[in-house]
Amino acid sequence: MSTAIVRIVSELRSIVAAWRREGLKIAVVPTMGALHEGHLSLVRAALAKADRVIVTLFVNPRQFNNADDLAAYPRTEHDDAAKLASAGAHILYAPDAADIYPQGFGTTVAVGGVSEGLCGTFRPGHFDGVATVVTKLLLQTGADLAFFGEKDFQQLHVVRQLVRDLDIPIEIIAGPTVREADGLAMSSRNARLSLAERNRAPRLAEILVQTAERLSSGQLIKRVLSEAQEAILAAGFSKVEYLELRADSDLASIVRLDRPARLLVAAWLGQTRLIDNLQVALPRPEVVHQAAA
Ligand code: PAF
Repeated sequence: MSTAIVRIVSELRSIVAAWRREGLKIAVVPTMGALHEGHLSLVRAALAKADRVIVTLFVNPRQFNNADDLAAYPRTEHDDAAKLASAGAHILYAPDAADIYPQGFGTTVAVGGVSEGLCGTFRPGHFDGVATVVTKLLLQTGADLAFFGEKDFQQLHVVRQLVRDLDIPIEIIAGPTVREADGLAMSSRNARLSLAERNRAPRLAEILVQTAERLSSGQLIKRVLSEAQEAILAAGFSKVEYLELRADSDLASIVRLDRPARLLVAAWLGQTRLIDNLQVALPRPEVVHQAAA
């Protein structure tokens, strides 16, 4: 099957309107391209739940708070289109920046609460850029379902919140983080790692797994997190921006593991910023009892 490439929103809207007349269910998978297995797993999940799947490809300048990072972002539309055709996506919607942000564009969608802290602290304006473009893409595609990866866990919360707050009639569905065989979370940024860095990178996920196990066994959160931070630096990472335990449901800070939780990390390996996260199992009842004793 070939995937149609659409660049103009009016063309996209007329295709979607025809699908609607046929009563088809439509899904969208927003991406910035440089597609890997993580994205393709979302496309497959979308195909399983919808009759038509639109993948958006737009490297959104408003979510980069660093011009070099934007310039270095991989642009591989030709390969992306081939991967989407094999996966069976129906449309690749790849608009130009001037169409997404035409002259005089003056609106910013700023989501409060869940966009604060974590990446929100270290990438000022990032989530405003994400929220603004995601709002546009959801409205432009008019899809019934939208798929986002758990790898960007805070982003997932930001999107859920904006859809709720703005009454956008779409269901947000999360896909699990897809990992390389050695545990490294798949990311378009992994391609920037040198060979030596790539060999070290999986330590981040290993440390998250060990830390989650220690937390679930009832060990003291503060001590476990500080030792994990030291372990990340000892593994060759140059800086840990954050390593935090947050509530899974709303990203609230937590000091006790008394509800479903998530460990979230951002750390630099050379010139590359990696993020990852992991669900933390609640302690077994006897462990809670022990920790309280
Ligand atoms: O996760 C991404 O690739 C981007 O942040 C998104 C959701 C496509 C918005 O530009």
